[in-house]
Amino acid sequence: MNTSVAILETFLSAKGKSVSGSNLALALGVSRVSVWGRLQQLREEGFEFEASTRVGYRLVKTPPTLHGGLLAAWLRQFAPGSTTALPVVHALASVDSTNEEAARRLGTGETAPFLVVATEQTQGRGRRGRVWESRDSGNLYMSFAFRPLFAPEKVQGVTLAVGLRLCARLAERYGIPVQIKWPNDLLCGGRKITGILAEARMDSDQVREVVVGIGLNVNSRIEDFPGELRDKAGSLAHAVGTPLDINEAAALCADTVFSAFARFVEEGQGADFDALWERFDFLKGRAVVASGGGRELAGTVLGLDGSGALLVRDGAGKTHALNSGEVTLSRSNT
Ligand code: BTN
Repeated sequence: MNTSVAILETFLSAKGKSVSGSNLALALGVSRVSVWGRLQQLREEGFEFEASTRVGYRLVKTPPTLHGGLLAAWLRQFAPGSTTALPVVHALASVDSTNEEAARRLGTGETAPFLVVATEQTQGRGRRGRVWESRDSGNLYMSFAFRPLFAPEKVQGVTLAVGLRLCARLAERYGIPVQIKWPNDLLCGGRKITGILAEARMDSDQVREVVVGIGLNVNSRIEDFPGELRDKAGSLAHAVGTPLDINEAAALCADTVFSAFARFVEEGQGADFDALWERFDFLKGRAVVASGGGRELAGTVLGLDGSGALLVRDGAGKTHALNSGEVTLSRSNT
């Protein structure tokens, strides 16, 4: 492991308490001079350490922006005792689209899984050819790359698996009422805080590569969004009521997505899927208009079927199973 990441992980484990320089050096197998040099480097990157002669160093401030080393250190905190190498994290200031960057890296043979995360995207993409607003405003643009080798029909379940587990984890960590809106939006207080765009490359009989792109609104203020999004978009910080540690949020999301994906490959949606869906489902019982494939359907949402399709009962009492499409609430809900 990189020494700076190991140092940061030691400070995170100390939870605000002091760590002695000699203990740091001993634990990491490097000299005290080397520890001192790394701390100086980290200071230049926005960290503050309080030094006191007898007790050592205390981490008192972390950078407010994306920092690959701190993200990796948080990721290790979420996987305590893990002896295997954690996925590589590529933290970038700006990129066209993290999904594109992840696909390019897969294309050149980079070992998967890995994460590409950026502070800004110049060509962020949403579902259905839409643009994903991606300015540098305290949010995260993340793409998770995998080479899973599973059957093409399985790929549709990825978005639900990842989205639902992320919803549950964010709700638990931040104590906010996050809900999932089929198939790929996370909402809080009716505002969208996360969108998911999963893309796959497959042969006729097998999925070869999957990129799960996640736009996670962490610290943006409502007024940071362009006018047309101001009534619809939200952020974790807006929901919690205070700015959040963006690197911890990134690592929480990364830990959740990597483990949700691995679990999905092993066991599909898992035994707890139905109960979790029931708990976090935003649409159940609501009057909606579903559109897709040039058709529109108005009805009431009943839930999901076993394949993850959305069940909508129309005015005549007929139930339709939707595999894809766009769902909006009808006026009768408001
Ligand atoms: C949606 O339309 O709700 C899905 C939005 C997905 C946006 C993310 S941001 C990171 C990744 N890179 C992209 O260009 N898009 C996805």
